[in-house]
Formats: sequence, C-alpha cells, structure tokens
Amino acid sequence: MTPTEQSARALAVCQLAPVVPVLVIDDLAHAKPLAEALVKGGLPALEVTLRTPCALDAIRAMAEVPGGVVGAGTLLTRADVKAAKEAGATFGVSPGSTDALLDACAEFELPLLPGAVTASEVMRLLEKGYTVQKFFPAEQSGGAAFLKSIGSPIPQVRFCPTGGISLKNAPDYLALKNILCVGGSWVAPKEAMAAGNWDAITTLAAEARALRG
Ligand code: 3PG
Repeated sequence: MTPTEQSARALAVCQLAPVVPVLVIDDLAHAKPLAEALVKGGLPALEVTLRTPCALDAIRAMAEVPGGVVGAGTLLTRADVKAAKEAGATFGVSPGSTDALLDACAEFELPLLPGAVTASEVMRLLEKGYTVQKFFPAEQSGGAAFLKSIGSPIPQVRFCPTGGISLKNAPDYLALKNILCVGGSWVAPKEAMAAGNWDAITTLAAEARALRG
C-alpha cells in the first residue's frame, strides 16, 4: 500500500469526527463497553495504544463493535505493525516515523498516520506521499500556534495533533485550516473505565463530537 493510498485512508478516518479517542486499556473486559460508549457518543474512530499487555486483544474485541473504526497507536516497530494488522486494526498511528516503520506499513498494508513535529520531519513524510500526519506531542511542541505557522509554507499537509489536548483547547486546533481532527485521552478517563461508568464516557464523547457542529 503506497503512502498516498495510506493517507487517503487516514484522511477518511480523521474526517469521521473532530476527536479520535486515544485509549490506554488495562483491562480487556473494558474494551467492548468502552468502544460502544464512544461510538454511541459520536466518536467512531478509536486509537488503541499498544502500551498495555491486553492492547492487541482489546483491538480484536473492539473491531466487533458496530460502527467502530479501530486503529492501533504507539506503533514503534515492524513487529507492532504486523501484530496490529493481525489483530484487526484498520489504521495505525505512530508518535514519529522511521524508515523501518514506514516500510512495514507498506508491507502489511496498514494505513499509517505517521508522527512529525518539525518542518523537516513534515517535509520528509510529504516527499514520500504522506499528506496526513500526526503532530505529537502537540502542546509541548508549539501547539496550535506552531501548526498555524507551518500551514503557510506547507499547506498541503493536514494534521491530527495529539498530546495535551482537552475539550478546552481543542477548539484552538480545530479552527485551523490544516487540522482535520485532534486526538486525546480525555474522553476515556481511567476512573470512569475502572468504575464501569460508560454513560459518563458517552457524555464526554458527545461533548467532543459537538466541537464541530
Ligand atoms: C498519547 O499518545 O498519549 C496521546 O497523544 C494522548 O495524549 P493525551 O493523554 O495528552 O491526550
């Protein structure tokens, strides 16, 4: 799968809703009700980070939830890409990008949203054909002001910023022409998951969905 084809798929995912939940799942039993709660609240695209032992099984469970579009985040290696694809992830997200990772996404046909934070990193990915990129860690790397500035010389790249984004500062990003959506963990707080308070998560998702009318 070429980078251009990958970006077309990443674009479609990023256009589903203004927010992509970034999920850290500690308990496999949370996967299905969490996905259902987020989809019900209007957030269908879900990024499950490969940071916990049950993450791949969580992707398997969530891939069964109607209306959900499940991807794997924190992809660092070729093995991560292979495992994510086998688990049923339909897109991948990485904090940065390496040649080995990009090659693996082509090999295993996993559309990637690759991370970049500098003009040179953005340009390197653009040269390869990645026109949709993740900007991480967003707040720490210059936030919305940086993305607005980079949109002047490089308007053809559009971003999903993540890292330090909340309901409060998300509008600053979403107001920019080169921002497709934002990613964030705030819609799935650990305490709500631990308490099985799925209605609270649906409410947070609905608030996030309403960021763009
Ligand atoms: C991450 O990979 O941790 C994401 O960028 C989410 O960041 P957040 O927890 O600050 O929303």
